[in-house]
Amino acid sequence: MERTILITGGAGFIGSHVVREFVIKYPSYQIINLDALTYAGNLENLKDIENKSNYTFVKADITDATVIMDVFQQYQPDGVIHLAAESHVDRSITDPTAFVMTNVIGTVNLLNAAKEIWKDGFEGKRFHHVSTDEVYGALRETGLFTEDTKYDPHSPYSASKASSDHFVRAYHDTYGLPIVLTNCSNNYGPNHFPEKLIPLCIHNILNNKPLPIYGNGKYTRDWLFVIDHAKAIDLVFHNGKNGDSYNVGGFNEWQNIDLVKELCRQMDEKLGKPEGTSMQLITYVKDRPGHDLRYAIDATKINQELGYEPSVTFEQGLSKTIDWFLSNPNWLDHVTSGDYQKYYDKQYN
Ligand code: NAD
Ligand code: TYD
Repeated sequence: MERTILITGGAGFIGSHVVREFVIKYPSYQIINLDALTYAGNLENLKDIENKSNYTFVKADITDATVIMDVFQQYQPDGVIHLAAESHVDRSITDPTAFVMTNVIGTVNLLNAAKEIWKDGFEGKRFHHVSTDEVYGALRETGLFTEDTKYDPHSPYSASKASSDHFVRAYHDTYGLPIVLTNCSNNYGPNHFPEKLIPLCIHNILNNKPLPIYGNGKYTRDWLFVIDHAKAIDLVFHNGKNGDSYNVGGFNEWQNIDLVKELCRQMDEKLGKPEGTSMQLITYVKDRPGHDLRYAIDATKINQELGYEPSVTFEQGLSKTIDWFLSNPNWLDHVTSGDYQKYYDKQYN
């Protein structure tokens, strides 16, 4: 079947894996990657597929309603997979407005454009909004987030994503726009920008720098390999029920300190260093304000309704991730030159 799918944020970490999955798996689809190329967008992530005949890149900012409407008019997508966002909690604490602009206003601009070009009928159309488990707030030591958990965001990032989720549902309820949502746990994998915990620690181990652990390190996150997230998006985009949300995760919780220790263990082994070498870099630093204690996803619905299962264990996924960073030193050099250093000094010194 021929289709035109517009993927926003396709030059980012998760978006680039989604674009690759769709370009390769569906040669009869035209894939339009719309991205503003902020600090987090990087076309190097897509070098291997950039010359495919079913792939087009469009540089555009989703906060610009006129430009977005023009792009929709020009390409007439019948599907949208929306990943473009400001995505880092720490940055949202220093500059919340940027998160409102891209995550809330940008999402509404896309919804308006889809509603306009699909005004003659919603048959065969779908707007897939990619969101996070952080909209549900924080868990104590027990319990899991289900699709029915009440929204209770705490950080400016999660508040902006919660708001965008509500707008997507509002367009479904009010105008009948065909939508699906996915709320995924923390991702890790190749192309992960080194402001987030795992790639930041990989980068710092390689450069013999401290591994900053916020607070007591007992905060818990639920980790999913990025390619398994891309596969879940593919499944929900094609087979998810109109109007529904699906939690995506792999039942894989780790306290930050244990995760960093496992990372140190694997890095020492791969770099041929004596066991315990990288662990000495662990440094406890000032806690993040409003730090959510624990996230954990109940992924029963996507498993039972759509047969979804992650393809790798955490140990395998982490090993693949480290191998990718070790084989791509230029990628890491490029993204950590320039403005990265300014961000890092401000955040950690
Ligand atoms: P990222 O920060 O790596 O990439 C974001 C991409 O969006 C970049 O390519 C950037 O250039 C683009 N972008 C930012 N502002 C834009 C704008 N105004 N107009 C057009 N493009 C813009 O983010 P990511 O980690 O790949 O996350 C992608 C999506 O998945 C986000 O919506 C995020 O909320 C969601 N999500 C992320 C995680 C995670 O662990 N990273 C987990 C669950 C959900
Ligand atoms: P992060 O990768 O920023 O993802 P999120 O905040 O969206 O969960 O952080 C993951 C966890 O690691 C979170 O509990 C904060 C913690 N963390 C540190 O301890 N040190 C760091 O330098 C960073 C970036 C995060």
